[in-house]
Amino acid sequence: MSQFAEDVLKGLSASPKYLSSRYFYDDEGSRLFQAIMDLPEYYLTRAEMRVFEMQGDSICDVIADGHDSIDIVELGAGDGSKTAVLIDRLLRLGIGITYSPIDISQGANDELATRFAARFPTLDIKPHTGDYFRVLEGLRSGSGRRKVILFLGSNIGNFGSSQALAFFRELRAAMEPSDMLLIGFDLQKDPRKIVAAYDDSAGVTARFNLNLLRRINRELGGDFDLAKFSHYAQYRPIECAARSFLISRERQTVEIAALGRKFEFDAWEAVFMEISQKYTRAMIADLASESGFKLGPEFLDEEDLFLDSVWLPN
Ligand code: AVJ
Repeated sequence: MSQFAEDVLKGLSASPKYLSSRYFYDDEGSRLFQAIMDLPEYYLTRAEMRVFEMQGDSICDVIADGHDSIDIVELGAGDGSKTAVLIDRLLRLGIGITYSPIDISQGANDELATRFAARFPTLDIKPHTGDYFRVLEGLRSGSGRRKVILFLGSNIGNFGSSQALAFFRELRAAMEPSDMLLIGFDLQKDPRKIVAAYDDSAGVTARFNLNLLRRINRELGGDFDLAKFSHYAQYRPIECAARSFLISRERQTVEIAALGRKFEFDAWEAVFMEISQKYTRAMIADLASESGFKLGPEFLDEEDLFLDSVWLPN
């Protein structure tokens, strides 16, 4: 059984039911996420872009740190539009770069590699398609050059707190003393602004969520009727956690051929789909120190919506 099939079986057999947001990004899911980034309510991408545009020179100084060539590894690269801002500046400074974007969408990663190759002829690009939860082994086989690991766009938000801690500890173990990590955190803010970002008026986030049911239908022979589920998003300000769910609008049975099983859904039963964790500065500092890092410089947008934090091995 594929990892996807196993995880769907586990999630839909659990109580409460859940599906993993790591499976959102088939080619259609990646396209829908592109559309989310253009939504007026989805402030995250534009806020981080402003951080890079306004403070790109300082960020590049920290990244290069006097080295004349570096390896940039990007976890969950997506369309790489923010990274392009940094790479453009680093190349102009005459710094040699090997860029390894890692993404779970083959389509998105191929497009990115083609686009970057055309725009940056001197850039050495080594794309990897795969789950960045499992790239740590590959990272360890070091080239001897300074490794700069980028984990941007609040991708960290999809980890629960214990998962985030375990992940950073593993990353730390794969890093040399002169390496660094640049992480994009979405900050705690007006709860209404956060809810709106995950419950947009055009319904794109709803389609993004429902697309995972369509993927199960296609890849695992499921018979989900998408019209019988609706998207629901909430934000819990004490935990700083946005969560999304698919709600079964009626009592129903769904069969998934590849799992050889039927699943019962009660009327209004919720399936937990995704966590998008927000952070305070104190939470970021705690997470860094508990996973073996010291905080380097931090870079914020002018409205304090988003923070890019430099972490150095401690
Ligand atoms: C790609 C994880 C940063 O949680 O904000 C956007 C994914 N989900 N809208 C996020 C997402 C719904 C996004 N990340």
